[in-house]
This record gives sequence, structure tokens and C-alpha cells, in this order.
Amino acid sequence: METHKIYIAPSILSADLLQLKTQVEMLTENGADFIHVDVMDGHFVPNLTFGRNVVKTLKRITSLPLDVHLMISNPDLYIEDYARAGADILTVHEEACTHLHRTLQSIHQQGIKAGVSLNPATPIATIENVLDNIDLLLIMTVNPGFGGQKFIPQGLKKIAEARRMIDTSGRDILLEVDGGVDSSTVESIVQHGANVLVSGNAIFGPPDIVAAMKQLKAKAEKA
Ligand code: DX5
Ligand code: ZN
Repeated sequence: METHKIYIAPSILSADLLQLKTQVEMLTENGADFIHVDVMDGHFVPNLTFGRNVVKTLKRITSLPLDVHLMISNPDLYIEDYARAGADILTVHEEACTHLHRTLQSIHQQGIKAGVSLNPATPIATIENVLDNIDLLLIMTVNPGFGGQKFIPQGLKKIAEARRMIDTSGRDILLEVDGGVDSSTVESIVQHGANVLVSGNAIFGPPDIVAAMKQLKAKAEKA
């Protein structure tokens, strides 16, 4: 994966579950780069979503990397499960990890990529000491838990700060943004330095999901 190329990661949180297979196949065949899977436990965030069986099932229908976003407490307990289920990138929340360095090492021990995510209120400086241990940094631009929320504009400053930190480190780290990514925010998000764009409602909301994804990606690539 190239760290400056634009990647689009449709979030199946907003998919039509009755058409999940068709929708994921359509996006896979038409230029999606990752499939973003939001795992919520009703404890770390006030919502419940998918578990490892969904990851395992998605693996059978798409060749794209599965970008699994764990919004759960005690993620250490589940790393092996999600790696075995087929996660290619496993992202944990800094706020959910007492021993983040160890958690990231455990993810790498499974032979997959490790990501760390920061809530809107969490400063970038909290992950300064684990830059050597991550392949992806996820900046949340909404409070995690639900799709279709409004982009929090203070996130832009954090994206820029994260970009500077990554470039200074010289490490190959993807900079991902999640929450409120749509046609009105995507340009600015990319201009501030992000290169992986998660999008739920802006892709699955319109009737033509492929057209919506292509438009969003084209706008990001031109920004
Ligand atoms: C929110 C999730 C997101 C969500 C984004 O907690 O992590 O991945 O699907 O949805 P949109 O793009 O609709 O803001
Ligand atoms: Zn997410």
C-alpha cells in the first residue's frame, strides 16, 4: 500500500443488510480499496453492530482488504478472533487500551496490519511513542458509535498535525479519517493530509452506491 495514494473504504455500517452481498460485490468490482467494518460492543460506544462472523462471511465475498475498526473495550481479548476471521487491518482505540504498545504488538504477531484510532477529544501526542508500531492512524471526526453524523471541523487541525508527525517519522503509515466524510468535507480532509477515506452514509445513502463512491473518490483525488 502506498501511503500517499487515495484509498476509499466504504463503511458497511450504512449498507442495506438485506443486500450486503450485492453491495459489497458491486463496490469491490468498481474501485473500492478496502471494506471498512465497524465492530461496536455497546460498552466502549453506545451501539452494537457486527461481530467476527460478519468479518468471516465478508472474506468469502470480497478480495479487498478488510479494514476492521474495533470500537470495543478490552480489544486484547478479541485480536486473535478477528485476525482468524480475516481482518487485514485491525484498528483499536487508544482510549480502550491500557497497554497500547502491547496490544499493537499482539496484532502484528497475528501477521496483519495494526491501526490505532483517536476519538475527537484525544490529542495526537498520545500515540507519538507508538509510531513505530502502527501501519495506520485513524482520526475520528465524529464521536464513534453511529453513521450519518456531522463532521467535527476541529478534526482538520488534527489531520494536519498527524500528517506532519507521520512524514517526520519517515514511516509508511496510512492516515485514515472516519466520520462525516462526504462531498462537502472530502476535499478539505485530503488537503489537510488524509489518504484513506472511510464513508458510510455518503456512499450507501444515495440510490446509486457505485456512482456515489466514484464521485467521492474522484473529488478526493483532485483535491
Ligand atoms: C462511526 C463509524 C463509521 C461510520 C461512518 O462510529 O466508525 O465508520 O460508518 O459513517 P458516516 O460516513 O456516515 O459518518
Ligand atoms: Zn469506523
